[in-house]
Amino acid sequence: MKACRRSLTVVAAAAALVAGAGTMAAWAQGEWKAPADQKNVKNPLADKKADKALLGEGKKIAETNCVTCHGPEGKGNGPAAAALPPPKPADWTSAKVASETDGEIFWKISNGRGAMPPWKHLPDNQRWQLVNYIRSLQKK
Ligand code: HEC
Repeated sequence: MKACRRSLTVVAAAAALVAGAGTMAAWAQGEWKAPADQKNVKNPLADKKADKALLGEGKKIAETNCVTCHGPEGKGNGPAAAALPPPKPADWTSAKVASETDGEIFWKISNGRGAMPPWKHLPDNQRWQLVNYIRSLQKK
């Protein structure tokens, strides 16, 4: 139930963002690129990409914070996605996301853009777990 209530909060937050979008002159558009110096940032959990327990942790963090927009399989089709203006929540399993480095994905999770919130308040370790979890979805 707890997770449910949190999901509703995110949906409400997304709706509020949409309501404000019309007045936001600088709504982010076009291709979203991480700064070049983030490309080679090393994933401290790079050797743990097959660690089932750790991936389970990553999944839980995603379920709490991300799936309302990105969907349960990370395809970008969560319940809040329909209400958002473009750019829509990214499909984590797309070739585009798959082609990015761990460092770039980590930077995007940390900084956000437009409707994508910044997640800097999550500990680094949890954000890298999310990167590993996203990678595990891409392999399916
Ligand atoms: C309120 C909706 C929302 C939530 C919640 C959300 N995202 Fe996003 N996310 C977006 C949107 C919208 C974009 C596309 C932003 C753009 O292109 O400007 C995006 C883009 C991304 C991208 C970039 C893909 C790429 O390579 O361009 C990643 C990675 C991502 N989200 C991960 C996450 C993770 C991890 C979480 C949870 C910790 C999360 N998101 C939570 C809406 C959301």
